[in-house]
Amino acid sequence: MPNTSIMKIFLADTEATLRLGITLGESLTPGSVILLEGDLGAGKTTLVQGIGKGLGIAEPIVSPTFTLINEYTEGRFPLYHLDLYRLEPQEVTTLNLESYWEGVEVIPGIVAVEWAERLPYKPDSYLSVSLTYGHEGTRQVELTPFNCAISKVIAAI
Ligand SMILES: Nc1ncnc2c1ncn2[C@@H]1O[C@H](COP(=O)(O)OP(=O)(O)OP(=O)(O)O)[C@@H](O)[C@H]1O
Ligand SMILES: [Mg+2]
Repeated sequence: MPNTSIMKIFLADTEATLRLGITLGESLTPGSVILLEGDLGAGKTTLVQGIGKGLGIAEPIVSPTFTLINEYTEGRFPLYHLDLYRLEPQEVTTLNLESYWEGVEVIPGIVAVEWAERLPYKPDSYLSVSLTYGHEGTRQVELTPFNCAISKVIAAI
């Protein structure tokens, strides 16, 4: 059950998606997990690119569709960017993704997962980010925190 009401935000263009990502990157703390859902091209990678900027990562953030996970360590803390598009849930199980959000043998950072609907299990706490298409190519996003505080994020939007 979400512990705070869902927040819906209208994203008029790519810039707006990037700006929301920057806000998230500036205000989330290490150990935060962001589970991104939304149709093909809905803006998931764009949002993660914003998160990278917000963390101070200058390196271009590209979709990890072929590499599965990209790690960026030059920002305030690491960004782990995953894309599960090509995987079946049983394949995801063998990846031990919990080591990322539990910070086991990895430096705690922000874990951003595209196609999170493919996850067969979820972390104890995470921010759900659901992107949908709106009128004339715009987007809408729903933020739903599960056992995590996003008051700092909301205050910054
Ligand atoms: N709010 C927005 N309004 C209009 N276009 C947007 C918006 N946000 C992102 N876009 C554009 O949508 C396109 C697809 O974005 P992006 O690659 O981030 O989607 P995605 O959800 O990661 O796609 P995939 O499912 O292939 O991983 C890009 O050209 C991006 O600039
Ligand atoms: Mg993508």
